[in-house]
Amino acid sequence: MAKIPRIAVVGSANIDLTTFTDRFPKPGETIFGQKFDLGFGGKGANQATAAKLCGASVFMVARVGSDLFGPATIENFKKLGIDTTHVKQVPGVSSGVAPIFVESSGQNRIFVVKGANDELKPADVDAAADLLKTVDCIVLQFEIPLETVYYTVAFARKSGIRCILNPAPGQPIDIKAVEGLDYFVPNESEAETITGMPVKNVEDAKKCAEKLLSYGIRRVIITLGANGSLLAGKEGMEHLPAFPVKSIDSTGAGDAFIGSFAVFLGEGLPEREAVRRANLYAGLSTTGVGTQKSFYDRARFDAEWAARSKS
Ligand code: RIB
Repeated sequence: MAKIPRIAVVGSANIDLTTFTDRFPKPGETIFGQKFDLGFGGKGANQATAAKLCGASVFMVARVGSDLFGPATIENFKKLGIDTTHVKQVPGVSSGVAPIFVESSGQNRIFVVKGANDELKPADVDAAADLLKTVDCIVLQFEIPLETVYYTVAFARKSGIRCILNPAPGQPIDIKAVEGLDYFVPNESEAETITGMPVKNVEDAKKCAEKLLSYGIRRVIITLGANGSLLAGKEGMEHLPAFPVKSIDSTGAGDAFIGSFAVFLGEGLPEREAVRRANLYAGLSTTGVGTQKSFYDRARFDAEWAARSKS
């Protein structure tokens, strides 16, 4: 039986307000949307959920607001079996929220209002240090203050803990602060924002990954949506294609990739195999509506993997 990885996510939790629409209103125009969905989201919480559903022990370090979403978010973590010892409510601040718009193609556009996520500070990482030192892997994203991200990357490096950074949403960063990082996992647009290089195809992604590696990052994985992903290290690069799926909502697919990848890697699979499985796990998440609620549990994933990895 595979080892049960211990994974900590230091990151965000949001409430997702998703509207499904054929098109966007013009300035001053009101139009009808087709459908609405309210769900638990946030890149950190989604990655924690994917990791838990894939079978890991998961610890969340996060901040939620002092509104009705705060306790509901903590309750949702508990229901999923995610440890909430270091998830705290911040007085006088709203929870993170994300108005999301999904077009009929499944393509999404997301606004994030960070709210309490912005209150997760380096001191909170220190407060969770005893627990963080016990995990196999720390997972980070960019919906919390960058100073907290950099601090946690340094903490992981000092403590010899594997660290996966998903630089989402994309924003300019102090690349020196992530030197020595184990895994840097942007999508195309995040890679573009950070390097200033266009990423329109696999060849562009290779050039961009090369630049990121030159900053002293150990491994770069650029996720390419329906094109799969590129795994890059100093020894070489490999494009690993996606599995065909009937996509209806791609929101959270990147989070599904990261959370599941952390688990597959933690179970001891070679990187390439972990990426291939994460490609499928992410693809499957786009066949349902919403983020966390579209993620497969391990039994359903294993059945799909068994059927598809033969072909
Ligand atoms: O990656 C998808 C997530 O981005 C959504 O759940 C939303 O909350 C935003 O953080």
